[in-house]
Amino acid sequence: MTGTLDLTPLTGVEPDQAWRDEVLELARQQDAVLLAHNYQLPEIQDIADHTGDSLALSRIAAESDAATIIFCGVHFMAETAKILSPDKRVLIPDARAGCSLADSITADELRAWKAEHPGAVVVSYVNTTAAVKAETDICCTSSNAVDVVASIPADKEVLFLPDQFLGAHVKRVTGRANLHIWAGECHVHAGINGPELAQRAADNPDADLFIHPECGCATSALYLAGEGAVPADKVKILSTGDMVTQARATKASTVLVATEIGMLHQLRKAAPGIDFRAVNDRASCRYMKMITPAALLRSLREGRDEVHVDADIAARARGAVQRMIEIGKPGGGE
Ligand code: 13P
Ligand code: SF4
Repeated sequence: MTGTLDLTPLTGVEPDQAWRDEVLELARQQDAVLLAHNYQLPEIQDIADHTGDSLALSRIAAESDAATIIFCGVHFMAETAKILSPDKRVLIPDARAGCSLADSITADELRAWKAEHPGAVVVSYVNTTAAVKAETDICCTSSNAVDVVASIPADKEVLFLPDQFLGAHVKRVTGRANLHIWAGECHVHAGINGPELAQRAADNPDADLFIHPECGCATSALYLAGEGAVPADKVKILSTGDMVTQARATKASTVLVATEIGMLHQLRKAAPGIDFRAVNDRASCRYMKMITPAALLRSLREGRDEVHVDADIAARARGAVQRMIEIGKPGGGE
């Protein structure tokens, strides 16, 4: 998806009232539900029927009775919706919206890894291609990764992929020695590093720390807490949906947020009285930001870009995705 493509976003449309009216009217005419991930541009989040994390959006897509799903997110998310609902029309407003993490393992690489560990249970993060999901036993998201791994008998080896930082988090929480972790990463989250977090925490000693487990700094945050540099109860490792839930519950007046910066919009809406600050304000995912007002309008006008998943791959991937949506608590936009 992400190779040598021109990744210039489609522009030229203002997100004004005329745009909103046309988007909503076309969606109504086409019986389309608009889903947006928490990292989308604010105007896309605000016009969507549902904004949430990967798990919540997968569940909503599976349960929706709309004829068309318009997935404002990245390609693997729309693909997951298509796997769960093969008879629905699934559109992503710009099919070039890939994911560097999903690109960090191929189905061939996974097959070779499995051959080295016969009998191991394969747990793949939802940020993977359909072909990788077809080689997987159970998918997970950041919201239910710990529950998914905990559901596997303790004596079974587990191959966890592709995110090394989420894998380290799951290993820490489950204490599982027989969990092997693929060395992939998301370039946006890996760039939110420990020294940066330590500095921001020192500058804001009363702040809560909301940290996405894909971040390079997640381990450092727990180390800081372990060293007493930050009170342990201030460090929260959360999926994007759980950040919104936690924002409504916290008593803190300042929260440092370590994830993609699109998240700040939902957090500020959920808790307007709290000062949410990005740990790294350059942490913006160019793929997520390809879903522009112009791309969404084009999607509704021209039926672009329709997502297709090979029927055989979809059939082999469906069980793993189905298990993913069955495990873990509801939340994050549901
Ligand atoms: P969640 O919304 O599941 O926390 O995932 C974050 C992410 O990086 C999606 O690309
Ligand atoms: Fe992929 Fe990272 Fe972008 Fe999420 S933020 S879509 S994991 S590249």
